[in-house]
Amino acid sequence: MIFKRLRADIDAYMERDPAARSRAEVVLCYPGFQALLFYRLARALWRHGWRLSGRIVSHVGRMLTGIEIHPGAKVGDRCVIDHGSAVVIGETSVIGDDVTLYQGVTLGGTSPAIDSRAQADKKRHPTLADGAIVGSGAQILGPITVGEGARVGANAVVTRDIPRGVSAAGIPARVILPRDKKKAKDREFVAYGTPDDLFDPVLRNIDSIRSQLTMLAGRIEELEDRLGQYENPGTERPIENDEEKTDAPAKALRGSRKRGVA
Ligand SMILES: CC(C)(COP(=O)(O)OP(=O)(O)OC[C@H]1O[C@@H](n2cnc3c(N)ncnc32)[C@H](O)[C@@H]1OP(=O)(O)O)[C@@H](O)C(=O)NCCC(=O)NCCS
Repeated sequence: MIFKRLRADIDAYMERDPAARSRAEVVLCYPGFQALLFYRLARALWRHGWRLSGRIVSHVGRMLTGIEIHPGAKVGDRCVIDHGSAVVIGETSVIGDDVTLYQGVTLGGTSPAIDSRAQADKKRHPTLADGAIVGSGAQILGPITVGEGARVGANAVVTRDIPRGVSAAGIPARVILPRDKKKAKDREFVAYGTPDDLFDPVLRNIDSIRSQLTMLAGRIEELEDRLGQYENPGTERPIENDEEKTDAPAKALRGSRKRGVA
C-alpha cells in the first residue's frame, strides 16, 4: 500500500515535470519528493499523538530540503512540489489529490486574532482542491479555498476563494482570462499551468508576426476609409487638429497610388 502510493507520487513527477527522466532521478534529486517522504512519516507520528516527534521529523525534512510541511497539514496523493525550496505549508492546510506547487509557495495563515492555544486547532490555512496548480512565489493566505483544477499565477497573493477551473493572478489575485480562448477549454494538466507550445520559440515568433500583421491590416483598412472620404468630396469631413498628424500617412498613400506605386 505504502509502496503503491510512493510509486504513484514518483509517476506524478514523471508526468508533470518535463525535466524528470527516470524514477531514480526523482527519488534522488527531487527535494519535493523527499520532503513528502519526511512529511508522510511526520504525519503518521503526529496522528498517533507523538506530536513532538512529528515536528522533529518535519524539521529534519525542512533542513534537508528547504520545504516545510507541518505534520498537521493534510496532503493528498500524487502531490508534486517542483523545484521545492522555500515552500511552506501551514498546519491546517488541506491539499487534495494531483495538486502541483512550485518553488516559493506559501500556504499561510492570516488570523492575528487567533493566538490563544484554545483556538490553535481552528482552520486558518488554505484548502487546495484536486488538480490545483500554484505558480512559483504565490502566497495563499487564510482559510480560503482554491477550487478544483484552478491555476494560481506566479507571485500572486490570494486572500479570497478562487472558483474551480479558472486562472487567477496578481496582487490581490483576480481571475484572469486566457489570451487564447482555446486554453480556457483545456483543463488537462500542463506544466507550469501554461500550454507548452508557447515555449516553442518558432511558434512564439509566428504568433508575434501574426499579431503584428493583424494590427497592420487594421491600420491599412482605417487609412483606406479615410482616403475614400477625401476622394469623394461629398463625404469629406473637415480636418480636425488631432487628425492632422494621422492624415499624413493617408496623403502619402494617396500620392503613391497616383504615382502607380503598389
Ligand atoms: C497564471 C497562469 C497559469 C495563467 O496562464 P494562462 O491561463 O495560460 O494565461 P495567459 O498566459 O493567457 O495570460 C492571461 C493574462 O494574464 C496575465 N498573467 C499571466 N500570468 C500572470 C501572473 N503570474 N501575474 C500577473 N499577470 C499574469 C497575462 O499577462 C495575460 O494578460 P493580458 O491578457 O493583459 O496580456 C500562468 O501565467 C502562470 O503564472 N503559471 C505559473 C508558472 C510558474 O510558476 N512557473 C514556474 C516554473 S519553475
